[in-house]
Order: sequence, then C-alpha cells, then structure tokens
Amino acid sequence: MQIVHTIADLRAALAGRGRPAFVPTMGNLHEGHLSLVQQARQHGDVVVASIFVNRLQFLPHEDFYSYPRTFDADCAKLEAQGCDIVFAPKEKDLYPEPQTFKIQPDAQLADILEGHFRPGFFTGVCTVVMKLFQVVFATTGGGVAVFGKKDYQQLMVIRRMVQQFALPIEVIGCPTTRAGSGLALSSRNGYLSDEQRVQAMALSQALKALADAARQGGDLAELEARAMADLRAKGWEPDYLTVRQRSNLLTPADATTGDLVALGAARLGSTRLIDNLEF
Ligand code: PAF
Repeated sequence: MQIVHTIADLRAALAGRGRPAFVPTMGNLHEGHLSLVQQARQHGDVVVASIFVNRLQFLPHEDFYSYPRTFDADCAKLEAQGCDIVFAPKEKDLYPEPQTFKIQPDAQLADILEGHFRPGFFTGVCTVVMKLFQVVFATTGGGVAVFGKKDYQQLMVIRRMVQQFALPIEVIGCPTTRAGSGLALSSRNGYLSDEQRVQAMALSQALKALADAARQGGDLAELEARAMADLRAKGWEPDYLTVRQRSNLLTPADATTGDLVALGAARLGSTRLIDNLEF
C-alpha cells in the first residue's frame, strides 16, 4: 500500500492504474469505514482512501481540534483490507491558501436536518469532497466514490452535487455497520463512556419505534414529538427525530406508503450521534 501526501504524488501513483474506487474519510477508522473499502474493491481497479480532517465542516464549538487522529492504526487497517493507496494530505497540501471558492449546496436539501443544526456543514463537506474528487478523478477520467448511508443526508447531498456538476463519478451508498446492540458505528462513539455506550442503543431503537408507528398511520408530527419526548426521558437531548421521503428528505403527505427514512440526531452527554433507518 502506498501512502502519499501531495496532490502531485497521488496523481503520479494513479497513473496507468485504471478506474479508481475512492473512499473519503476523516480517519479514526472503524468497521464501517472498512466495509466501504471492501465495497470499493468490488467496483474499481485501484482503491484509494483519503484521510483528512476537514476544518471547513466543523463549527467553531465543534470537535475539530480533539477529533481523534489515529493515522498509523488507520493505515494498518486499510492495508489489511487491501486498500492500494492512502491519500493523507496536510492542510497546506489541500488548502495551500484559504479556500475562498466554496460549493454552496442546494438549500432545500442541505439547510434542513443536519444543515439546520450545523449551519455551513454541507458547504464544508461539499467543498472538500469536490476538491478530493478533482484530485482523485481529474486525471483518471472519473471512477467510483463510496460513502456510508449512516450519513444519509451527506450521501444525498453528494449525489446531487455529482449530478448537477455532471461529474463522471458513480456514487455508491453502503449500508450502515452496527454493533450487536444496534448502535451505528461512528468515529464519535469513542467519546462515549461504557455506560453511555449501553444507553446509546436507544437512538436506533427510537428510530425503529418511530418507523413502526409511522407505518401504522396517524399524525406524523405527533409521532415525532412523542419519539423525541421518549428519548429525552432516557437522558438524551434530541435535535430531531423525523420521517422523511427518501427521494428528497421532505415530509411525506402519507407515511404509510414506503420509500421513507426515519432520521435522528441527538446528544448523549456531550456526544452528538446521528442515525437513520429506511423503511
Ligand atoms: O463522512 C466523512 O467522514 C466526511 O464528511 C467526508 C466525506 C470524509 C468529508 O470530509
């Protein structure tokens, strides 16, 4: 496995290697990321993973500085999964000057849910992903990019960006990897105490209960409010628990029709977790 840090070195490493399958990450890798690498191996000639903690997508009060940086362990895991190239730029390699040109995603999709509670988050994500796409795919004529469905809205925003900019990239969404308790794997689970880890399964359970109730019919706003209250009673501070149409993340007129997704974000202590369930 090659480890490269600069754009020029990555492009040189990719020359003549065929169609890349790309897995962008911020490191601190867990089984969920590794399942993306496995998917990537099915879809491309050369598997590239990036490790870059992207300052642009963190709000000032968020965990940019404390976000776990576990580079050596990450590389060992990637190598064991058969990753071919790790692209690990320093900030000055990816942002040699302040990134004043940014990607402004569709507000209808990106200013709701995560974008509402984390203003500017998707601008930061789209800007770095567009830049990483340019770095990986500009000299290869396109390829495949693999993202997890755990970040459901992120996957949708990126799909829309790829479509609107006619990027020659096939975006593949992969199922969420979960612990036995149902807890969706996330780099931020590492912030949870042992006790919180047990409590944390309540988020996926709340989404399942909300989806089951919505499927039965009834007033969706009331069901969502009840789901939030139930989670609050278990010691969480929910930002949202909601049922949306999979196609556009808008509220469905009728929640018994299928093609829906229950999405949630909630804070347990100081850790904010997100999860979702398609139904
Ligand atoms: O999902 C993530 O880890 C990040 O948002 C991404 C896509 C690597 C961009 O920094």
